Amino acid sequence: MQIVIEADIAVRAGIAADFIEQAVKRNPQAVIGLATGSSPIPVYQELIKRYRAGRLSFASAKAFMLDEYVGIEQAHPQRYRNVIEKEFVSQVDFAPEAVQGPDGNATDLWKACRAYDSAIAAAGGTDVQLLGIGSDGHIAFNEPGGSLASKTHPEALTQQTRIDNARFFDDQLELVPTHCVTQGLSTIMSSKHPLLLASGKKKAKAIAAMCEGAVSSLCPASILQTHPNVTVILDEEAASELQLAEFYRYRWQTRVEEK
Ligand code: F6R
Repeated sequence: MQIVIEADIAVRAGIAADFIEQAVKRNPQAVIGLATGSSPIPVYQELIKRYRAGRLSFASAKAFMLDEYVGIEQAHPQRYRNVIEKEFVSQVDFAPEAVQGPDGNATDLWKACRAYDSAIAAAGGTDVQLLGIGSDGHIAFNEPGGSLASKTHPEALTQQTRIDNARFFDDQLELVPTHCVTQGLSTIMSSKHPLLLASGKKKAKAIAAMCEGAVSSLCPASILQTHPNVTVILDEEAASELQLAEFYRYRWQTRVEEK
C-alpha cells in the first residue's frame, strides 16, 4: 500500500487525477471505477478542469460505478446514478452507455448483480478504481462481517452508514435507504489500481484498521492490504491514528516511480 499524507486538498485531488489521467493517456479505452460520496468530488472537479483545458478526454473510456441504493426512485437526486451524472459524467465526454452502475431497482437483484460483474470482467476490469471508506471500514457498501471474497451483491446498510449518509437526505435518517447493491470485495480487488481517498477525523480509526490492522471482515477495507498496487491518499486528520505515518511520508517522498 502506498500511503500519501497531504494536507492540501488541491494537491490530494491532483495526485488522484494524475493516476486517472495517466491511465486514460496510456490507453484511451481505459476503464475507470467511479465512487460516489463526498471524498472523490475534488478529484472529479480536477478531472473536469483538465477535460475543459483539452488535456484529457474520456470519449473512448468506460466507467463502472461502485454501488447503488435499492428501491430509490429513478429521479431521486441522491440516487447514485444521478449523483455521478451531475458531479462528473455529464461534465465530461463519455460516450452514451459508456458509464454503467449496478441496478438497485431490478426485479431480480441477484441476477442484475451477476450481470454487472460479468460486464466488468468483459471490460477487462477497472484500470483505476476510485474508493472512499465508511467510518465503519466499508468500501463500496461492503459492510463489516461480510465475505472477503464477495462478488457484486445486495447488502443491508449498517445503522452507522445510514447515520453517516443522512446528511445527504436532509438529516432525516428514515429517508436513507436500508439496502443497496454493491460491487463485492473481490470485484474491487480485480481492479489494477484501487485508489482510496479519505479525509477528516471521523475516518481515522477506519484508516488505521484498514492500513495497519488485521485483514478481517470487521474492517472490509483491510482486504486492500493483500492487493499489490493500492494507493491511499489522506489528509492529516484521517492519517492521525497511523502508527507508521512518518515512514509513509518518507516512503512517498523517496518513491521509485514505475517506468
Ligand atoms: C460510495 C461508496 C462508499 C463511500 C463511503 C465514504 O459510492 O462506495 O463506500 O465511498 O461511504 O463516503 P464519503 O466519501 O461521503 O465519506
